[in-house]
Amino acid sequence: MQRLAPALREDNVPLDLISLIKTILAATKEISFRVSQAHLGGLMGSTLDENIQGEVQKKLDVVANELFKDILLESGFVKAISSEEEDTSVGGDKNGKFLVSFDPLDGSSNIDINSLIGTIFSIHEAPEDAEPSDPDMFKQSGNRQVCAGYVLYGPSTMLVMTTGSGTHFYVLDRTHGGYLLVERNVQVPQDTQEFAINMSNQRFWQAPMQRYISDLLAGDTGPRGKNFNMRWIAAMVGDIHRVLTRGGLFTYPSDNRNPEKPYKLRLMYEANPMSFLIEQAGGLAMTSEGRIMDIEPSDIHQRVEVIMGSKNEVEACLGYYK
Ligand code: AHG
Ligand code: MN
Ligand code: MN
Repeated sequence: MQRLAPALREDNVPLDLISLIKTILAATKEISFRVSQAHLGGLMGSTLDENIQGEVQKKLDVVANELFKDILLESGFVKAISSEEEDTSVGGDKNGKFLVSFDPLDGSSNIDINSLIGTIFSIHEAPEDAEPSDPDMFKQSGNRQVCAGYVLYGPSTMLVMTTGSGTHFYVLDRTHGGYLLVERNVQVPQDTQEFAINMSNQRFWQAPMQRYISDLLAGDTGPRGKNFNMRWIAAMVGDIHRVLTRGGLFTYPSDNRNPEKPYKLRLMYEANPMSFLIEQAGGLAMTSEGRIMDIEPSDIHQRVEVIMGSKNEVEACLGYYK
């Protein structure tokens, strides 16, 4: 078992980025504790507010957001943050070298059923001359991330992180209070017989996704000639963790439920960080038109189509769009 910092030094991560990562992890340890005590501390259920995206905020969404935001903005390492739960970016230290985008709690609908939730984060370098209040600093593609990760508040609290030298798994060791490296250079198996999609939206999908999923469901008597299993945790952190661990295809495709909102997942703090982790583990992270991390963002809260996971299966899916 290796502690966090030696593993980061092996990957030649600059010291100021290591300090920021340690700050982020301090926040996640506190969130992990609050999550475990939520029922006892009166933190189940919703607030009376909605976030800028019109989604009801759970009490824990707000608590996790405030914790994460405060600790980052006070650290001195961060020029600005952007969060799912903030209308726009929030300025920090003028000399801060980094920008952090985050989803303080992913899978909020799982909070009240004591099921999987997590925190997702993505780090970019801040332009030196920009003002902390300038939200345009965040308009950088996923290719420019210097670190991405998530912390999964499951039976173990696990950190999954990349700084561009592979994707690694760490577990929070509560006996000494730090994250220990448990698996280095995780690899997503290239082939899979498992997929993850919210099947209840089937009638709203575009024709290529309809055909692809219908061929998977046909199993060994269909064109794919093998049976597929389906899983849906309703928390991207949980579904992506399974894909990183044993392979699979995860998708939230575009749909026509609401013509103003063809996609569900957010680019900056869901799709980009997960794409970095998946690609660093040898998988693919795509929309039906190209690599997610090549997208030049136009808005902090912009949404995107997501098809990611085992390389050969993502390619098989994209074949239906040609
Ligand atoms: P959040 O809880 O941060 O709003 O994100 C939920 C996202 C994602 O984690 C998950 O994959 C998806 O929404 C679940 O969507 P459905 O409600 O359609 O299952
Ligand atoms: Mn989310
Ligand atoms: Mn969230």
